[in-house]
Amino acid sequence: MTISTIADGLKTKKFGKKVFVFDTIDSTNTCARLLAECGTEEGTVVYAEEQTSGRGRLKRKWISAKSENLLFSIIFAPKIKERRYYLIPLLVSVCIVNSIKKDIPDCPVIVKWPNDILLSGGKKIGGILTELTHTYDNDLRIVVGAGINVNQSTFPSELNTTASSLYIATGKELNRITLLHSILYEIELVYNSVEADPDSIVERWKSHCTMFGKPVQVIEGKKVKTGICKDIDREGALLIEDKKGTIHRIIAGDVTSVAINTT
Ligand code: BTN
Repeated sequence: MTISTIADGLKTKKFGKKVFVFDTIDSTNTCARLLAECGTEEGTVVYAEEQTSGRGRLKRKWISAKSENLLFSIIFAPKIKERRYYLIPLLVSVCIVNSIKKDIPDCPVIVKWPNDILLSGGKKIGGILTELTHTYDNDLRIVVGAGINVNQSTFPSELNTTASSLYIATGKELNRITLLHSILYEIELVYNSVEADPDSIVERWKSHCTMFGKPVQVIEGKKVKTGICKDIDREGALLIEDKKGTIHRIIAGDVTSVAINTT
């Protein structure tokens, strides 16, 4: 993969205008963070065919077969309050889902709080890692890294029951760069509305989420909570209602659908 391959045909003005392309890197997020701290401009993308230390949420690893998937990180410099930073990964998730659906209209792809991309059967095809940092002169930067399982046809046994790919879902091999271009194009279109209309990002994300109204279990550190998934609030926290009617606000954790008695 070369820089020109990624730049060729890209229709954006800002996102992907500058791309750092690696055959192998430790983590595109680590690299993008360093670039952001040095003042590299908004919209810069770090792309890799393979990561040796790909990182997931909650200190997990992100494992991805070389040259089969999409692994990239984007630098954002949004003019929003730091507490509303969660809007940026929500926006990226929405743009990923829209781009997949444009390419494969009947692909049953959905989002799961906080930032997973799943097939409707529950297997994960993508994840997003968001990291906040500051430039040397103290301006907020948000690095959003995405791993999307595109053409991988098999997974290691430890991931087999939880992970899938677009190829497994559809039987079709996709052009990864076309998908990346489409995602960057969508991001550029939607990004300008974050400041003016932040709630529309949340609403768009919610329209792709199928968990509302369903019983869920949330693991938040060492605590486990069960209840009905009600909503996400203006700060991006998940709201669940327990059987006594108390609403719990979850800031970080893992959610799974469960069959529970909430009466
Ligand atoms: C998760 O679901 O836990 C988030 C996974 C994020 C993985 C991507 S791959 C590209 C970028 N670089 C990383 O090290 N992580 C993110």
